[in-house]
Amino acid sequence: MSDHLLSTKGFTRDRAVALLDVAEDMADTQRRQVKKLPTLRGTTIVNLFFEDSTRTRISFEAAAKRLSADVITFSAKGSSVSKGESLQDTAQTLQAMGADGIVIRHSSSGAAHTLATSGWTRAGVVNAGDGTHEHPTQALLDAFTIRKRRHGDDSRGRDLDGLRVVIVGDILHSRVARSNVWLLTALGASVHLVAPPTLLPTHTEGWPVTTGIDLDAAVDDGPDAVMMLRVQRERMTEAFFPTAKEYASLYGLSVARADRLPATSLVMHPGPMNRGLEIAGAVADSPRSTVLEQVQNGIGVRMAVLYDVLAGDRAA
Ligand code: NCD
Repeated sequence: MSDHLLSTKGFTRDRAVALLDVAEDMADTQRRQVKKLPTLRGTTIVNLFFEDSTRTRISFEAAAKRLSADVITFSAKGSSVSKGESLQDTAQTLQAMGADGIVIRHSSSGAAHTLATSGWTRAGVVNAGDGTHEHPTQALLDAFTIRKRRHGDDSRGRDLDGLRVVIVGDILHSRVARSNVWLLTALGASVHLVAPPTLLPTHTEGWPVTTGIDLDAAVDDGPDAVMMLRVQRERMTEAFFPTAKEYASLYGLSVARADRLPATSLVMHPGPMNRGLEIAGAVADSPRSTVLEQVQNGIGVRMAVLYDVLAGDRAA
C-alpha cells in the first residue's frame, strides 16, 4: 500500500509491474456482467478538478464507483474556488467532510504534492495532472496498453525490457511525457523524445532519454511505439512554432509517416487530439492506434491505483 500517488519518478521496476498486475486483475473484473467490487465500500473519494478534463475525470469516477466508494466530483467552476478560495481552505473543508481520498487535477505544478504534505488533509492523494509536471496514472495506463498489445493475456509479471518508445511533440508542456519518461524507463524501455527545439525542455540532461528534432529519422528507426502529444496551446504564452501547417508537416504523424513504421509499431495519444495537427485522423483511427484502448485501460489502472492508495490500513 502507498500513502499517495504523486509521481512516477522513483518507481522501481517491481513496483510498476506489481501495480500493472493489479490493474490486470481489475480489468478482468470489468469483463464480468456485474462490474462492481465491494473493496472500497464506506470510503469517500473526492475528485477535485481545478482544470478541464473529460477522460481522466470520468475514468476516476468510474473506477471509484466500481470499487463501491462514494464519489463526490468537484469542479472548480461553480465552486467557491472561483470566489478565490485557496487550495488550503478547499482541502480543509474536504477533510472536515470526511474525504478518505482526493484525486486532484490542478494547473500548478506541485499542487498534488502540496496537498499531500501540507497537513491540511489526511486523505490519500492521487495526482490526476499537475501543471506541466506529472500525470502518473496516464503513464501507468500507457505502459499497461503497450504491455497488453505485446503480450495479451500473458502480460502479468512482465516489464517493457528492450522496447523502444518515441514521444513526439509538445514535450515542454507535457506532464504525460514526464511521467512516461520515468515509468517506461523504470520498466526497461528506452525513450527517445522528438520535438521542435522550442518545445524540448532545456533541462533534459538528467533524464534517462535521448532527444532529437527529426521525426522522420525517428520513424525510420522502427520504434515499437510512437506516442504523439497534444499541442497544448492553453499553456503557450508565446509562439513556439511559425504556423500550424508547418508544425503538422514537420512533427505531425501523417499517413505517409505512419506507413513507414513497422507493421507492429503502436501509435498512441493520451487525448484530447488535435486531428490534422499532431496526428492525422486516419492514423488515429487505424488498427495500430491504441487511443481508445488507452481510455478503456484507464479504468482498470485507476481502480488499481485507488486500491493501492486507499485499501488496507487507511480504509480500516
Ligand atoms: C492529458 C493531460 O490532461 O495532461 N490528457 C489526459 O489526461 N487524457 C494530455 C493533454 O491534455 O494533452
